[in-house]
Amino acid sequence: MRLDKLIEEQLHTPRKAMKRLFQTGQILVDGKIEGKRERNVDSNLHEIIVQGKQLKTNEVYFLLHKPQGVVTANQDKQHQTVIDCLAPHDRHPDLYAVGRLDRDTQGLVLLTSNGQLGYALMHPEKKVMKRYEVTVNGPLTAADQAAFEQGIVFHDGTTCQPAGLTIQQSSSEQSQAMVMLMEGKFHQIKKMFLVRGVKVIALKRTAIGPLTLTDDLPIGTYRRLYQEELESLVDYFH
Ligand code: URA
Repeated sequence: MRLDKLIEEQLHTPRKAMKRLFQTGQILVDGKIEGKRERNVDSNLHEIIVQGKQLKTNEVYFLLHKPQGVVTANQDKQHQTVIDCLAPHDRHPDLYAVGRLDRDTQGLVLLTSNGQLGYALMHPEKKVMKRYEVTVNGPLTAADQAAFEQGIVFHDGTTCQPAGLTIQQSSSEQSQAMVMLMEGKFHQIKKMFLVRGVKVIALKRTAIGPLTLTDDLPIGTYRRLYQEELESLVDYFH
C-alpha cells in the first residue's frame, strides 16, 4: 500500500506532520531513508520504520484458478464473479482482479487489495509476460508463428506487439499451442487467431509474469500467494 496512507492509517499523522516526516528523513524502508510518499510497501517484503516504530501492512493476495463461466468483475447481475469464488470471509472490500479474462477463458487470476501492484503488473511498459494454452479449430504452421513474432495486425488496423507462439500439436481439425503475450487487449488472443483464419475453442491462462498455475490449485479453487511468490513480485513495488 502507499507509504503515506499506511502512516496516516496507523499513526493518525496530520498532513503537515506527514510532510515533515518525509522531509526530515524519519521514514526508513529496508534501512534506507524513503522520500517517496506514494512508494508501494508491504511489510511481508519490506521493513517499514517510522520514527523508530515498525509498521505492518494488511494487503491480501490470492491466486484463483478461474473456471469457465465466471466473469472477471466484482459484481454481476447474471453471472458468478471471481469474487463469488472466494469464501465470504475472504471477500475483502478492496479486492480486485489484475487483468481480465473472458467469461469463457479458464486459468490464473491474481486478486489483490494492492491496487498499485495491479497497476504495475498491467502497465505495458513493465512488459509482464502472460502465458496461455490455446486450442484452435484448424491447423497451425510456421507461418502463423512468424506472424505472431512479427506482430499481428487486427482487421481494424490495430498492431499487436510481437508474441510467442509454440505449436504443440497441429491437424486440419484442431491444434494446440502455447502463446506468450505481453499485452492485454480486449479478446486479444481470440482476435489474433481469427486474423490467421482459425477460431479459439479453448483458452487457459497458465502464468502471469513469475506467477504460474500450480498443481495445488485445481479449477475453481484459490489460495493466498506463497511468500516466495510475493517475493518474486518485489520489482513491481515502487
Ligand atoms: N485473450 C483473449 O482473447 N481472451 C482472454 O480471456 C485473454 C486473452
